[in-house]
Amino acid sequence: MTASSIDPRILVLNGPNLNLLGTRQPEIYGRRTIAEMMDNLQRAAASGTPALDLLHYQSNHEGVLIDVIHEQGPDAFGIIINAGALTHYSIAVRDAIAAIDTPAIEVHISNVHVREDLRHRSVISAVVTGQIVGLGEDGYHLALEWFRRQAVQIQEESF
Ligand code: DQA
Repeated sequence: MTASSIDPRILVLNGPNLNLLGTRQPEIYGRRTIAEMMDNLQRAAASGTPALDLLHYQSNHEGVLIDVIHEQGPDAFGIIINAGALTHYSIAVRDAIAAIDTPAIEVHISNVHVREDLRHRSVISAVVTGQIVGLGEDGYHLALEWFRRQAVQIQEESF
């Protein structure tokens, strides 16, 4: 990560079925839509110090997410990724994250560890900096604030 004169950019990636947030199993994922969640995150990103620039993509397609990681990931200050079900089996998403130097935080709205066995394993957790699970929408905000703290530290070290 390097300090820059423009606002550090955080790439937020949401994978399959997360476009259905709000109506999809609300007892697990809550009633907030992805648009509402990302608007909230955008506001939080812009309002802290330093301000962060947010770039959000949601796709139901593995290859699209990989293309975005290739195209937008290298220039981002950090990546927040909820890969949805791809978390549990996509070696290709893992390889894309591993292929670039940008630090990533894996977020899951639900606590995957108290759910079905098939959700206990993340194939991407070994290539991310950290993982936040089970804290709902707040997980994205905590990841964002961690990146902001990193940006502050880099700025302080450069003085
Ligand atoms: C999820 C958990 C995954 O197991 C699931 O496939 C999702 C959402 C979460 O945010 O809790 O789509 O990533």
